[in-house]
Amino acid sequence: MKKLFLTGGRGDIGSAIKKVFEDSNYQVITPSSNELNLEKTSEIKDYFKDKDCDFSVFVHCAGINNPQKFSELTLENIEKTIRINYLSFYELVKILSPKMIEKKQGKIVAVSSVYGLVARVGRLAYTSSKHALNGCVKNLACELAKDNILVNCVSPGFVNTKMTDKNNPAEKIKQMIEKIPMNRLASVEEIANVVYFLCSDKNSYITGQNIIADGGFMASGGQGIWE
Ligand SMILES: NC(=O)c1ccc[n+]([C@@H]2O[C@H](COP(=O)([O-])OP(=O)(O)OC[C@H]3O[C@@H](n4cnc5c(N)ncnc54)[C@H](OP(=O)(O)O)[C@@H]3O)[C@@H](O)[C@H]2O)c1
Repeated sequence: MKKLFLTGGRGDIGSAIKKVFEDSNYQVITPSSNELNLEKTSEIKDYFKDKDCDFSVFVHCAGINNPQKFSELTLENIEKTIRINYLSFYELVKILSPKMIEKKQGKIVAVSSVYGLVARVGRLAYTSSKHALNGCVKNLACELAKDNILVNCVSPGFVNTKMTDKNNPAEKIKQMIEKIPMNRLASVEEIANVVYFLCSDKNSYITGQNIIADGGFMASGGQGIWE
């Protein structure tokens, strides 16, 4: 049985990722933030001390986004966001890749965001973390390609989740939808299916890429449908 190590598997998008892999007969190991606090990057090694590190797929979906305008932004917010969204991914790849290298096979996906490519007022911590994550993915793809390990990002646009509701008033969500050519939010399943494809046997040559699933938001330069 193939095995997936998944972070953020109890969140909205993570639960959908867990389901799509389980439906395809994967064993999914997905610790909660209580079992593995990714903010404590130095402690990630300890979690794996007595545990199996033999996974064919690793998906990093854990992430936080606590908006704060630049004038109020704290270093603590930036550090926490960078640790959970980006540095923990790097630490986990260090721990999980040796077995993949030994077997000359592996798939790694980081769930990023369109804010890995563009910015938004009040999102400095989040935007910085996702830009760094995207760079890390590209570099890892180059370093691990010789061992047949494919490393990619999936960047959702605006997804119908609690995170979107928490960070945007209903009126703002309406305005966001007007800027999406497909004129709706993504479902969590739509994001999970992209992640699954990149990790499946159907993907044998895509690596170092950032697959944007945003209903056309980035293609339209965030303008939506303008006639
Ligand atoms: N929602 C969107 O519209 C959207 C758009 C673009 C990108 N994304 C990205 O998609 C991913 C999932 O988003 P979501 O909407 O599903 O978020 P969510 O429902 O808030 O889930 C976040 C997940 O991250 C985990 N997490 C948070 N802090 C952690 C910590 N210190 N240690 C370990 N795990 C921690 C949570 O674990 P526990 O539940 O165990 O605490 C939870 O499972 C994130 O990376 C986010 O940036 C989301």
